[in-house]
Amino acid sequence: MNTLDYSVHYVDGRLHMEGVDLADIANRVGTPAYVYSKRAITERLNALGQAFSPLPHRIHYAVKANSNLAILSLCKSAGCGFDIVSGGELSRVLAVGADPGSVIFSGVGKSCAEIDFALKAGIGCFNIESAGELERVHQRAENLGLSAPISIRVNPDVDAQTHPYISTGLKQNKFGVSADQAITLYQQAAGAKHLRICGIDCHIGSQIGSCEPLLQALTRLLELVDQLAALNISVEHIDLGGGMGVTYNNEPALDFAEYGASVQQILAGRPQQIYLEPGRSITANAGVLLSRVEYTKPATTQGAPNFAVVDAAMNDLIRPALYQAYHAVLPLNEQAPAAQLMPWDVVGPVCGSGDFLAKGRNLSLAEGDLVAIASAGAYGMVQASNYNSRGRACEVLVEDQSFAVVRRRETIEDQLKLERVDEQTT
Ligand code: LLP
Repeated sequence: MNTLDYSVHYVDGRLHMEGVDLADIANRVGTPAYVYSKRAITERLNALGQAFSPLPHRIHYAVKANSNLAILSLCKSAGCGFDIVSGGELSRVLAVGADPGSVIFSGVGKSCAEIDFALKAGIGCFNIESAGELERVHQRAENLGLSAPISIRVNPDVDAQTHPYISTGLKQNKFGVSADQAITLYQQAAGAKHLRICGIDCHIGSQIGSCEPLLQALTRLLELVDQLAALNISVEHIDLGGGMGVTYNNEPALDFAEYGASVQQILAGRPQQIYLEPGRSITANAGVLLSRVEYTKPATTQGAPNFAVVDAAMNDLIRPALYQAYHAVLPLNEQAPAAQLMPWDVVGPVCGSGDFLAKGRNLSLAEGDLVAIASAGAYGMVQASNYNSRGRACEVLVEDQSFAVVRRRETIEDQLKLERVDEQTT
C-alpha cells in the first residue's frame, strides 16, 4: 500500500494530509485525534458519481459510517442524499439542512417515535424490513393523516464474502425479507391507503471487494421487479445499498467504474433510478487516527511481543478488536532506511487484551513518537465509547493548508454531567 491510498503522504520525511503537517495538528489539538481530508472525501464522491453518471441515480451517504456534522455537510454540498438508521441520524442530517425528501430510512428496529419523526419530517423512503414494520408504518401514517413512501428491503440470500459480522444478505441474517415474502408485502402495500410504493431495496453487507455478489443481488431484485410488474405493481427506484470495499492492507478495493458499468449493462435501459448507500468507500481512507506512544515495552522474555503502548485505544477504534480488522500504522516521522525496525504490537491503555490497534508491525518506535492509524475515517469515531471513562477523541477536518476542529475533545465533565449519586428518578 502506498501512503497516498490513505490520503496522506510524506513531505521531507513528515506525514502530511493535503497541505498540513499532521504533527502540527497533534501538537495543537492533542492525541488521540481523528483527522479527515475534505479533498479525499470529495474525490471519492465524485468518482462514484462519475461511475454511475450514465444512469439516473442518487448517492445516499450512509450516515452510520461517519456522522460528524462537517462530513454530512460536505456530502450534502456534493449533492448527496442520506441513508439513516435512527432518529438520531435523522436529526443530524436535518441539522445540516438536508432535504428530507432525499433521506432514506433503513434498519430492522424502527420505533414508533422514530417513524413519526420521519413521517412528519417528510423523508423520501422507509426501507421496510419486516411485515410488522410495514403494518406499523401504515398505522402511524394513518394516525398522522399522511402517506408513507416505502420500499421493501429484500434479503436476496447472496453471500457477500465478507466478515460474518458485516454480512447482511444471507437468509440467516436478521435483515430484510425473502423474495416470496416481499411479493406478499408489496401486494399488501398496494392496497393500503396510507402507503405509497416507491422502490425496492437490498444491502448485502459491507467491505465487499468484488462486484460479483452485488450484481447477483441486483439480478435477484430485477427478477422481483418483473414479478411485481406482472401484478401491476411498479417501483420508481432500485436501491442497491452500500457495501463497496476499500483497501486497508493489500486487499483489492471495489472498482467503482467496473461496478457502474456492470450495473448499467444488467439494467439494460430499464427506467428505474438507481439508489446507492455508500459509507465506508467514501470516508474510510479519507481519515486517520493520530496517536502518541506513551511507553515502549520491548520483550524481555523469549516469544513475548514488543508492546508499544499508545494513547489511543479500543474505545477510540474498536475495529481491530471486533473484526480483527487491519489498520496500517504510519509513523509521522518517516522511518530512515537504516532505522532499527522491530515487530511491535501497538496497544492502548484500556484494561483488556482485546485492546490492540495493530499486531506485529515492523517499525522503529520510541516513547513520545507520533503515529497515524490509517483507514480510520469510517466506523471509527462513530463506534467510540467511554470505556474506562476515557473521553472520546476530537475530530479535525483538513482542507488544503488549513484545518479545523469539527468536534472538540470530550471532557470528564461531559461524562459526569449525565450521572448522579442520589436516587432521584427524574
Ligand atoms: N446501507 C445499509 C442498510 C447498511 O446497513 C450499511 C452498513 C450501509 C448502507 C453502508 O455500508 P458501507 O458502504 O459502509 O459498507 N461496523 C462495521 C461496518 C458495519 C456496516 C453496517 N451497515 C465496521 O466497522 O466494519
